[in-house]
This record gives sequence, structure tokens and C-alpha cells, in this order.
Amino acid sequence: MVRQICCQTALMGEPSVIFFDDDEIFADALTLYFTDYESGSCFVAEYENRVVGYLLGSNNMKRMDQMTVKKIVLPLLIKALRRGTLLHKKNMAFLFHIFLSLVKGEFKAPIFLIDYPATLHINIIQEYRALGVGSKLIRAYLDYLKEEGAKGVHFATMSEKACPFFKKNSFQLLFQGHRSYFRYFLGKDILLSIYGMRIPSG
Ligand SMILES: CC(C)(COP(=O)(O)OP(=O)(O)OC[C@H]1O[C@@H](n2cnc3c(N)ncnc32)[C@H](O)[C@@H]1OP(=O)(O)O)[C@@H](O)C(=O)NCCC(=O)NCCS
Repeated sequence: MVRQICCQTALMGEPSVIFFDDDEIFADALTLYFTDYESGSCFVAEYENRVVGYLLGSNNMKRMDQMTVKKIVLPLLIKALRRGTLLHKKNMAFLFHIFLSLVKGEFKAPIFLIDYPATLHINIIQEYRALGVGSKLIRAYLDYLKEEGAKGVHFATMSEKACPFFKKNSFQLLFQGHRSYFRYFLGKDILLSIYGMRIPSG
């Protein structure tokens, strides 16, 4: 269900199929590290035995990046090649525009790992948004991080709609930058915002 929600909410709350054909590969890329290598930092919200939202976290983003490179990238690439994912026109267009953004230097951003070593990724399915579910997940995760002794958390969001939610939950805006990789079908750049919060030691 977490993988399904990830695909349903990928593009600022809208489904990934708009820009990427292959939910299996897309869900692997966004959730595999969290579910398979750090599930202790993940939280789900349930309503009547149905998962309606999740917060996937890592209390150490540096370790997360290292594990991703070591364990996930190559098998995922092989899987995508076997499935023919990279040959879909839609996927080629998406990857080409990501590559262009990379070449233009749009991915450059300050490094916040030292003061904010943890990270998170949160999504709630449409029918259950604005009911307090996201705030509860954030509170549960912050309590967990405090117990773990993490000194801060930061994450990036492309969703301008979600910014008031993060501010309301006491995150501070650390950085903003434009990204052009969705311009080919949105007709405009997106604003990427990095939010963070320091966690006082218990
Ligand atoms: C952003 C999100 C996680 C917030 O969780 P939530 O359970 O909807 O939020 P809560 O009910 O706890 O908090 C309500 C606040 O969220 C914001 N919010 C409400 N509906 C929203 C929506 N559809 N999309 C984004 N933010 C919304 C508002 O700021 C609201 O504050 P208000 O009640 O004072 O107006 C959730 O709406 C969501 O998953 N949205 C779509 C995907 C997304 O943007 N994810 C974030 C990517 S990092």
C-alpha cells in the first residue's frame, strides 16, 4: 500500500503516471531504501485497517545515500532494463529532462547533513488530506528522532501546496531553488523548497 500511495501522490500529490510509465520501478526508486533497509524509521497512518498515508524516514541521510548507491542503484537499473522501462517514450522524455537539469547545475543546493542528518518523505492519499493525519505522522516521527538522538531533520519538497503544512508543523525554510525538468509538460519551472528542523536533545 505504501508503494501504491507513493505512485498515486508522486507529482505534488498527483500520480506518477503523468510523467513516468512503470509504477514498479518508480515505487522501488522512491521507497525501497526506507521499507527494506530502514523500516524502523517509517510510520504509516491507518483508517479502518487501510493504510491512508505514510512517512518514510531515515535518521541518517548520509548512510541512506551510501546504502542506496551500494545496494539499490545497480539492481534497479538492471530491473528497469529487463522490463524495458527505459524504452518507454514518456520515461525517456522524463529522464532526458532530468539529465538536462543536472547539466544546467540545477541540482546544486547547500548541504544540510551536518546540522540536520535525518530526512523524511510524507504523503497522504487525497480523500484523507487536511484531516490532521500528516501532522500526527510528523509528531510521531519527531518523537522517534528525539529518542534516537538525531539532532535535526531536513527534506526537499516540490509541492508549493504543502509548504503551509510544513510551516504549521514548525519546519523552517532552509533553501529554495527552481527546477526546469517538468517544464516540458507543466509549461513552467517548479520551486523546490528544503525545510528543516533542529531537534533539541532529550
Ligand atoms: C502535505 C500533506 C502531507 C499534509 O498532510 P495532511 O494530513 O493533509 O495535513 P494536516 O491535516 O495534518 O494539516 C493541515 C494542513 O495541511 C495543508 N493542507 C491541507 N490540504 C492540503 C493538500 N491537499 N495538499 C497539501 N497541503 C494541504 C494546509 O496547510 C493545512 O493547514 P490548515 O488546516 O491550517 O489549512 C498531505 O496533504 C499530502 O500528502 N499532500 C499531497 C502530497 C504532498 O504534497 N506531499 C508532500 C511532499 S514532501
